[in-house]
Amino acid sequence: AGVFTYDPGFSSTASCESKITYVDGDAGALLYRGYAVEDLVARGDFLETCYLLFYGDLPTAAQKRDFDYRVTRHTMVHEQMVRLYQGFRRDAHPMAVMVGSVGALSAFYHDSIDVEDPHQRMVSSIRLIAKMPTMAAMAYKYTTGQTFVYPKNDLGYAANFLRMCFAVPFEEYQVNPALARALEKILILHADNEQGASSSTVRLAGSSGANPFACIAAGIACLWGPAHGGANEAALRMLADIGRPERIPEFIARAKDPEDPFRLMGFGHRVYKSYDPRARVMREICREVLAQTGVEDTLFQVALELERAAGSDEYFIEKKLFPNLDFYSGLTLQAMGFPTAMFTAVFAMARTAGWIAQWMEMLADPGQKIGRPRQLYTGSPRRDYVPVTKRG
Ligand code: CMC
Repeated sequence: AGVFTYDPGFSSTASCESKITYVDGDAGALLYRGYAVEDLVARGDFLETCYLLFYGDLPTAAQKRDFDYRVTRHTMVHEQMVRLYQGFRRDAHPMAVMVGSVGALSAFYHDSIDVEDPHQRMVSSIRLIAKMPTMAAMAYKYTTGQTFVYPKNDLGYAANFLRMCFAVPFEEYQVNPALARALEKILILHADNEQGASSSTVRLAGSSGANPFACIAAGIACLWGPAHGGANEAALRMLADIGRPERIPEFIARAKDPEDPFRLMGFGHRVYKSYDPRARVMREICREVLAQTGVEDTLFQVALELERAAGSDEYFIEKKLFPNLDFYSGLTLQAMGFPTAMFTAVFAMARTAGWIAQWMEMLADPGQKIGRPRQLYTGSPRRDYVPVTKRG
């Protein structure tokens, strides 16, 4: 028996070395390969961020054209996948459908599951990036009872996704370029966040040599939890429960009450102990989307006021609890027309970029080992087996 450090939730154990993403929790900074996420959001698009995360540098114009072309060639999913979707109940949660359907890709694309071959790893990575919007849109269309919309590859990544979600046959559908741009930004903001629970899950699954589609399905399963990607759904529900600014003090009091399990959803973070830079950008995207869509912004006002009230409250200041990415993202996605059940699916689409980058980095690392945490056993010592007739 060894002596192990007890570190529940891995709050002080680094599980890997990584060159991908740097979170400075005290300064409130997030860098992808050294670039501030705010700069990538302001100037770039999501596929450029994918390239950056995968390869380590921003692409040249020619590299970008080539990468975009390679992704675009893989946006369709095997037609047989339609049957797979049709096996789900219509009222299934899109994330339940995503876990199943993304996992099933390994049954459709055998040719790219060789994890030993770096070329095949890149092929499966590009397939995943290309197919995620198609699959998330299919999950949405299926649950609404509408027909699937095929990708239209002359559109950009986010615009294509919006069209696959919201177009219907025989009706003209024009993607609003401002909304497509807002969605590109949202995807960049969500693309990676170093070793979050779902990325750690992907690495752990991948450490056994499991195929990339199975690993990403594991990441999706983990992301679905309310303490992780499901927080945007929970945050929006909370804002709707609060309903109007006058009720904010009551909810703040509940969040502070040690006897009450209620927490302010979209507040607090394991690593960001200062303002989450993504939340600031997301707040402005939310403002733009509301202005574009003309959606009534009562809950946005509640959110702004809640942020202000918590920001001047001793409890939140002392515990360093600030809005996180999820605080404004639910409001934004709702204003774009997505039902709450789709929020985490959009998050999964974006985070696939980071999951894949983490997975590829791990497999290329000669020091990589199968992930195998230890435990401190606190159960019964050895005892004698008693036949069932003699028990009790
Ligand atoms: N509202 C009220 N109190 C809180 C909150 C909150 N949102 N978050 C943390 N606290 C308190 C908590 O009660 C604890 O108090 P005490 O020390 O008195 O026991 C203290 O702050 C530390 O909390 P913790 O749970 O030990 O911290 P953690 O690092 O394990 O948890 C967290 C981080 C994000 C799970 C947590 O802040 C939380 O539950 N937030 C609400 C859910 C949420 O917004 N999740 C999204 C996470 S960010 C998106 C992502 O990366 O996926």
